[in-house]
Parts: sequence; structure tokens; C-alpha cells
Amino acid sequence: MSRVGLSPLPQPQSTMLSTLWLLLSFAVPVRGIYKFVSCPHGKQCQKALLSGNDVLLQCSSAGAHWYYFFLQTRSGWTTANTSVSNMVTTPVGHLLIRDPLPSQTGLYSCWNKNGTQETQYEIDFQDVSSLHITHKSLDQDPLHNESLELGRQETVFTHWEPWQDCNRCDVPGERKRLGYCYIREPQEEPVPCGIFLGQAKLKSNRLRPEMQVEACFAPCDPQRSYRHEYTVFDSFSFSKESEALWLTCSLGSIYRPIMWEVNGIPLTWRGQLVGQGMNTVLDTSTGGRQLQIFQPATYKCYVHQEFMAQFSPEEQQWQVGKVLVPPKEADSVLKGLKLMLLMVFVLALAGLLFRVFRPAWDKRKNSVLLVK
Ligand SMILES: *[C@@H]1O[C@H](CO)[C@@H](O)[C@H](O)[C@H]1NC(C)=O
Ligand SMILES: *[C@@H]1O[C@H](CO)[C@@H](O)[C@H](O)[C@H]1NC(C)=O
Ligand SMILES: *[C@@H]1O[C@H](CO)[C@@H](O)[C@H](O)[C@H]1NC(C)=O
Repeated sequence: MSRVGLSPLPQPQSTMLSTLWLLLSFAVPVRGIYKFVSCPHGKQCQKALLSGNDVLLQCSSAGAHWYYFFLQTRSGWTTANTSVSNMVTTPVGHLLIRDPLPSQTGLYSCWNKNGTQETQYEIDFQDVSSLHITHKSLDQDPLHNESLELGRQETVFTHWEPWQDCNRCDVPGERKRLGYCYIREPQEEPVPCGIFLGQAKLKSNRLRPEMQVEACFAPCDPQRSYRHEYTVFDSFSFSKESEALWLTCSLGSIYRPIMWEVNGIPLTWRGQLVGQGMNTVLDTSTGGRQLQIFQPATYKCYVHQEFMAQFSPEEQQWQVGKVLVPPKEADSVLKGLKLMLLMVFVLALAGLLFRVFRPAWDKRKNSVLLVK
């Protein structure tokens, strides 16, 4: 059915799926789908993130307005008349930024309906295409601290996030952690590099984010139910022109643990880094959310240790995609979601019925008039 092609245009089904995800994300479980960034009410928060991976900035005020100002281009305004197409305010007031660009580093402030500022973020979207990747098992060193010769004894260093969970359980896996570029001046709080430098263009190979990977083994949590029922089953085929395809693991992102399997054999960052990638390429800029493939096989992906999607060559039997609920925080919202999906379905059906029957209705009205 849904052919995965090399065409840059989104396929109808994936468009539908992403619309569905967008709808779902506007319901309750927003935190489960996107990287959720929050800041206490009335506060100002500074944060480094990565470009190329969707984030949701928290502001819980329905009808909120977001004002933004980009540091590099010194441009900005409100999301209401923005020309920036990858930013959307959700009905509850959060700001969704899809696939952010490094040039969107800047100030984001949320104002409520009464014109009072709720929160303000200074976000540094560090360029994921310059990500420095190292693997512990390969004895690769992360970047070292380096001084910046700007005259105030500035040091560039990496601020590491905690390790993410192991990407599988009960079998050997890998886990990663992200590190952001920060600059510290003596006696000052460190500042994310992009915010520190603003418009200044500095040529330094040290000014980049990092990802470190290591092998791990985690037992499955007996308390947790590992669901399979929301898995997407999809098929792909190589056309004559295309020698490679990209598969996308829904709900994957660089901020979450992801694992791919090829015919049941796990793909590892280690394998990719030493050049034994089993004829596949994990996309580093999405933390492996996307996988480039060159040959037919059965590909499975796991997010947060849960089976998320399976892609089979088209000749093989496929099942229709069933996507409903993100894996985490799903239980509590499952009912609400089902209800919402039902509502969406009913509305869509009503719309369809209306369209189908309106001409008939109009005709009838006309004929009644004629009879008169
Ligand atoms: C956005 O709207 C405000 C007023 O609501 C206006 O002053 C500003 O010029 C607009 N910006 C753009 C880019 O149209
Ligand atoms: C806006 O102002 C009204 C009246 O002062 C108040 O009742 C309401 O709670 C305020 N709303 C917000 C979101 O602060
Ligand atoms: C690098 O700099 C950071 C921040 O100043 C500091 O916490 C860390 O210990 C330094 N690392 C080394 C290896 O010097």
C-alpha cells in the first residue's frame, strides 16, 4: 500500500499519520510525543536543545500569544502573524516548533490573553549537523574543554544531559546522552554557546553539541506493560530509480531511546561508527529516528524499549497501520484519546454525510419551490 519512495513529497498515508499525531498532540499526551520544555510560571529559563528535532515549549494558558526574537537575524514578532511556518501555538497555549533551525536560536516569550507575560525562554538550537559522536566501547573521547580567546577567560565545555534509558530491555542494547555546548566566564553562570555568541561568527571546531553512546543491558520492568497494539505496520518497495529509501520510526527523536533491527538483528551505533552498518545508515541528526536502507529486509524499530513499527518489503503480506497512542503516559490518557478519535471520526463522517447529502437536499428544496 503506502509506498515509501525517494520523492521529497510526503506520502499521503504519512501525511495522514502526521495529521493524526498533530491532532493527538493537541489533546492530552503532548509530553509523550514531543520533547517537552517547561519553565516555572513568571520565570525566565535558558536552555540548549538540538536543531532538527521537534520540541514543545510549555505555556499553559489557552489563547496565549507567543513573541519570538531570533538572535542571529535580529528578527521576530508574534506567532500570530509569523511567516515562520514551523511554529504553531497549540490550543492549550504551548508552542510547537517542528524541525527547528539553528537560526531559530533566540527568545520566546508567552503572554496570556490579559497581556501578562507567563514565561520566557532563551533557547539555543545547536546545530545537529555538527554533532560530535563518540562511543565509549570504542575508546573515543568526547571533546575537551577549550578556552576561547575573547579576552575574559571564557571556557567552552560540554554540559551533559543524563544518560537516556537503554534502547532495549532483556537484550543487549545501547544508550546515549546528549551534550550541549556551553561557555563559562569566571564567576558567571555558564551560557549556551549560541546565546553567548549571538550574532558573533566565531570559527571554532569546539562550538558544537555532542552525543555519547555506550553499550548497556537493562532487564525489562515487570511492572510495565510493553504494548504492541499501537505498532505501525508498513511496507516499502524500491523503485527502479531509487537505490535507497528512508524509513521513519514514528515517535522517535534524538531525545528518546531508539533501536532498529534488520531481520531480527539489532543495529548499533557502534556498528555504524566502525563501518559495519549492515548496509544501513542511522540518521545521526534525528538520533536514528530515520534509517536509510539499501536492500529489502524486515525492519523493526523500538522507541523507549517498545515495539513501534515494522516495515516489510511490499511482496510480503502487510497489515494496515494502526497507530493510536504514544508509548509513554499512555494509560491514563488512553480513554480520552479513544474518545477524541471517536469524535474526530464522527465529525469527519458528519462532514462527509453533509457533503454527500447536501446536493440532494438542495435539489429537493428546489423541486419543492418548483412545485409551488
Ligand atoms: C504583526 O502584527 C503587529 C500588530 O499586531 C504589527 O505591528 C507587526 O508589524 C506585524 N508583523 C508583521 C511581520 O507583519
Ligand atoms: C485575566 O483577567 C481577569 C480579570 O482581571 C481574571 O479574572 C483572569 O483570571 C485573568 N486571566 C489570566 C489568564 O490571567
Ligand atoms: C570543563 O569545564 C567545566 C565547566 O567549567 C568543568 O565543570 C569541568 O570540570 C571541566 N572539565 C575538565 C576536564 O577540565
